[in-house]
Amino acid sequence: MTESDRSSFGSRFGVIVAMVGSAVGLGNIWRFPYMVGENGGAAFILIYLAFSFLISLPVFCAEFVIGRRGRSNAVGAFRKLAPGSKWYLGGFLSIIAVFLILSFYSVVGGWGIKYLVDSVALKFSAGAAGTDFGASFAAFSTGKVAPLVYMLIFVLVTAAVVVLGVQKGIERFSKWMMPLLFVLILVLVVRSAFLPGAGAGYSYLFRPDFSKITSETLIAALGQSFFSMSLGMGAIIIYGSYVKRSDNILNHSLITVSLDTVFALLAACAIMPAVFSFGVQPNQGPGLVFVTLPYIFTNMPLGSLVAVFFFISLLLAAVSSAISLVEVMVSFLIEECRCSRKLAVGISIATQAIFGTLCSLSLMPDSPLKVGGLTLFDLFDKISSDYVLTIGALLIVLFVGWKIKKANFMDEMTSGGTIRIPKWIALVIFWIIKVVAPLAILTILIFS
Ligand code: TRP
Repeated sequence: MTESDRSSFGSRFGVIVAMVGSAVGLGNIWRFPYMVGENGGAAFILIYLAFSFLISLPVFCAEFVIGRRGRSNAVGAFRKLAPGSKWYLGGFLSIIAVFLILSFYSVVGGWGIKYLVDSVALKFSAGAAGTDFGASFAAFSTGKVAPLVYMLIFVLVTAAVVVLGVQKGIERFSKWMMPLLFVLILVLVVRSAFLPGAGAGYSYLFRPDFSKITSETLIAALGQSFFSMSLGMGAIIIYGSYVKRSDNILNHSLITVSLDTVFALLAACAIMPAVFSFGVQPNQGPGLVFVTLPYIFTNMPLGSLVAVFFFISLLLAAVSSAISLVEVMVSFLIEECRCSRKLAVGISIATQAIFGTLCSLSLMPDSPLKVGGLTLFDLFDKISSDYVLTIGALLIVLFVGWKIKKANFMDEMTSGGTIRIPKWIALVIFWIIKVVAPLAILTILIFS
């Protein structure tokens, strides 16, 4: 495929919207708050922030460079940039990551649809105050049929967007949801701030207790950062491959990483004060946000209306992230296995539905779908971020640092010398990619 055959983003703004669309999703609004709650609060957040800018940002640039130079999916890009070597095998790791992530992601996306339906049915209006939302979430999410139906709807919606193709689908779609979601989260942050007992939530979020840090905390923070920024499995390789040569990689990377971080922090500021105010357990895991949000909605003016718009925009964010995952699998099937786009999407729907079903059913009480005491849902959620993405990111930085070489890296970062970025910044990023990031990731992997 020549460069001109390859579909590309229509505008620079479109690129940024699509990248931010991929990054901002359930990872920020569902996963980040519950990881903060499971890992003891402020200390986790500080480590997360440090990792995001010191490690994830360089990894983002590295993935971007591979994609734009390789102009291909993860496997193809490695093959093109290192012909005759075994590096391309690393690309297959990305397919494993897609399987694992899409299966639980679709289940949680389904939960979002169910909560949207409930909002429309006015189940979170002021009259519903007093409902035990923890119990109702547990009853729903451990059910046998309803979560599967909602999961399937999520899968089909995502697939429909992917079938429309790169520009029409991804770009147009993502343009409108970001600002709306941002504003709604701000509204929730403000509402949460005035709840009785909110102060306990803030000290949990901002007063670090470093005695709570273990090697588990480190890998959880690193994995969460990669997950939230869509790193470690070739999603940014694919998006990078659609980007024009004249675009500024550092600029796009910095914007995406920063906005993603802002969304995650705001989500935590919306949720945690309410968690403490309503006596929800912060460390209860994946249900945290779904249990807490209804309490906020039922206790605010126009709560039902805010809930409806919140879940619509959350779902749009989730779909714009899921399409980047599906796109990894689809472009692999199209370019490496010569499938048609429709067939590729069909295969992706089928695997998503099957593994999503297994994940969802594993949450049922007495489900046999458990490994070592963990449900399949928790297992996939944990190993995908903590291990598959971190190993993927390790391969990516090693590849750029040691195989692509500095001159080529600098050439990409400056678009062949046409973009002026301070040279020392590009050099610092390169040395982080080559030495610091691999050592840090390896150390954290080994100690966990
Ligand atoms: N970053 C997305 C989120 O926060 C999830 C996601 C989309 C992702 N594409 C990815 C995670 C690629 C890892 C790799 O919801």
